Amino acid sequence: MKNICLLGASGSIGKQTLDVIKKHPADFNLVAFSVGKQINKIEGILEDFPVKYICVRNESKELEKQFPNVKFFFGDNGLNELIGICNCDMVVNALVGFVGLKPSLTALENNKVLALANKETLVTGGELVNKLLKEGKGKLIPIDSEHVALSKCLSVSNENVDKIVITASGGAFRKISREELKDVTPEDALKHPTWSMGQKITIDSASMVNKTFEIIEAYYLFGYKYEDIELMFNYESFVHSLVRYKDGSYRLDEGKPDMRVPIKYALYEGACEYDLVYVNDLKEYKKSNLYPFDYDRFPIVRLAKKVIDEQGLYGAAFNAANEEAVYAFLSKKIKFTEIENIIDYCVNNVDNIQNPSYEDIRKCDVFTRELVAKLVKGERL
Ligand SMILES: NC(=O)c1ccc[n+]([C@@H]2O[C@H](COP(=O)([O-])OP(=O)(O)OC[C@H]3O[C@@H](n4cnc5c(N)ncnc54)[C@H](OP(=O)(O)O)[C@@H]3O)[C@@H](O)[C@H]2O)c1
Repeated sequence: MKNICLLGASGSIGKQTLDVIKKHPADFNLVAFSVGKQINKIEGILEDFPVKYICVRNESKELEKQFPNVKFFFGDNGLNELIGICNCDMVVNALVGFVGLKPSLTALENNKVLALANKETLVTGGELVNKLLKEGKGKLIPIDSEHVALSKCLSVSNENVDKIVITASGGAFRKISREELKDVTPEDALKHPTWSMGQKITIDSASMVNKTFEIIEAYYLFGYKYEDIELMFNYESFVHSLVRYKDGSYRLDEGKPDMRVPIKYALYEGACEYDLVYVNDLKEYKKSNLYPFDYDRFPIVRLAKKVIDEQGLYGAAFNAANEEAVYAFLSKKIKFTEIENIIDYCVNNVDNIQNPSYEDIRKCDVFTRELVAKLVKGERL
């Protein structure tokens, strides 16, 4: 029986994690969870999982009165306190945004297995995470479907690998030109063709920031350089990613887009049954179509090279600029195309340092968000 602490239980990944836990009651036991602002979801979750510890974003005496058997924690620090107290074996981090980094570090420092959906953790703090893992603290297992696919393929064979290949659905705007992007609205961007996800990642998919994140994550998870990580279009999101071997053969993970499959793999730490496909030549693979990625249509993905090669604070600046730009776009303060411009501006204005501490990364995050606020207001910098 594995005791689980779930951060972000009210979100898309959080809800699907609860589905998986509920389906396997002999193997998993929820001992604690967090929600952000959606405190109305607490009652329903408690009906299925009567936990003793919950963290919510804003302090509330009402909640303590309503649920007298629960010990509540509040705010960003509360997430870390929750991990420390709940006696879990695994922390599932399904938070969205930079707020996820510190709890990821806390989970590892406390020797927990970290099942990681929160992409922003590795993008902003990949070096800190890997340092803890090197010191023998905790264990990391990805939840993202692409990285789970790569994990599965590489666990069968990681010898003679030519490239690891991350697939991309192309997001909401895969069929329109850069010129046409100028007039797209948040409503257009939120229509993802294949996956139903939280708002931020859906916009990240449309802008291809999501794939940029995934390249950076793959570097920290599997140690492949930017040049050894390729992208390919798979419009149906049926092929979750592939490994190409030096003899031209491929191993790939396929299946209908359903995040409960990679979540289950993560909760079992890979110790569950799965099938992979192996082909001598990609032309043999007929079940779904794979196409070369268009780097000129989506130039943002090249930014992953800078983040990976130059390290330090570039990931933190990239992420903070993106988070703020996405929320400005969703509230119709900027155009979609400005997301990319804001990220470029912020990344090019980083005063980089090597081996940053968490505090250095946090300061860069704050600084970048202030910079974006000025850019959004139209201030000339
Ligand atoms: N959705 C997917 O299919 C998918 C796939 C792969 C990876 N991911 C990654 O997984 C992460 C979660 O994505 P999602 O789609 O599940 O997002 P989501 O639906 O927006 O859920 C995010 C969760 O984080 C909580 N949260 C947000 N800000 C918070 C804060 N400041 N303090 C405490 N809690 C906070 C939210 O709480 P409230 O809603 O209660 O405020 C919610 O529970 C992201 O990093 C995403 O990129 C998602």
